[in-house]
Amino acid sequence: MVTYTLAFDIYGTLIDTSGVLDSLKKMIGKSAGIFMNTWRNKQLEYAFRRGLMDAYVDFSVCTKEALDYTCHDLDITLTQDQKLSLLQEYKTLPVFPDVSKGLELLQNTNHSMYAFSNGSYQAIKALLDNANIEQFFDGIVSVEDVKMFKPSPLVYQHFNTKTNSTKDTSWLISSNPFDAIGATSYGMKSIWVQRLPTSVFDPWGIHPTETITTITQLKDLLEKYE
Ligand code: 2OP
Repeated sequence: MVTYTLAFDIYGTLIDTSGVLDSLKKMIGKSAGIFMNTWRNKQLEYAFRRGLMDAYVDFSVCTKEALDYTCHDLDITLTQDQKLSLLQEYKTLPVFPDVSKGLELLQNTNHSMYAFSNGSYQAIKALLDNANIEQFFDGIVSVEDVKMFKPSPLVYQHFNTKTNSTKDTSWLISSNPFDAIGATSYGMKSIWVQRLPTSVFDPWGIHPTETITTITQLKDLLEKYE
């Protein structure tokens, strides 16, 4: 019986970053959708660039600075209170509806389960506590320990070191193609969670080991590899 170490990505995979959409609609109306997507894409771009520059900051700084960028880019003025309110909401984003059941199904397996994120330990713990899913995890692994961001191989290597696992015995579960490609390229197995049918996986010729659409499919899928 093979047991695995499972690395669950957080933002966009277990936690829904579009949780801020309602607040944005109230604040800025019809521009809320483009605002949210620009904000998320720029947040990730800042993490990628800072990784390449070896200029690490807490991921929450990427989130804040991307929010400021988006206001300038879209020529939308938000008050300081509105920005603080959005950033506070980012700390308590909702969990996707399939997650609790999907993680619960894995509880009576022998796999160990970790939250694994660009977010700081403190930020991820707060999100898991707020979403009431912290009890499903054996621990939290944050890239802050190595002051680098996904998809650097250093962060996946850190995950294996921190959890005493190997490339062969660990799976990265993520809705973010850059994350699944990064982990696969490093040598881990990977599962892409295709949360939207319109989501496109980058045409790099590096493919996830498996693709699912909900976390509830994980238990049965992993049984194929046990
Ligand atoms: C993560 O949670 C940013 O989704 C990415 O690490």
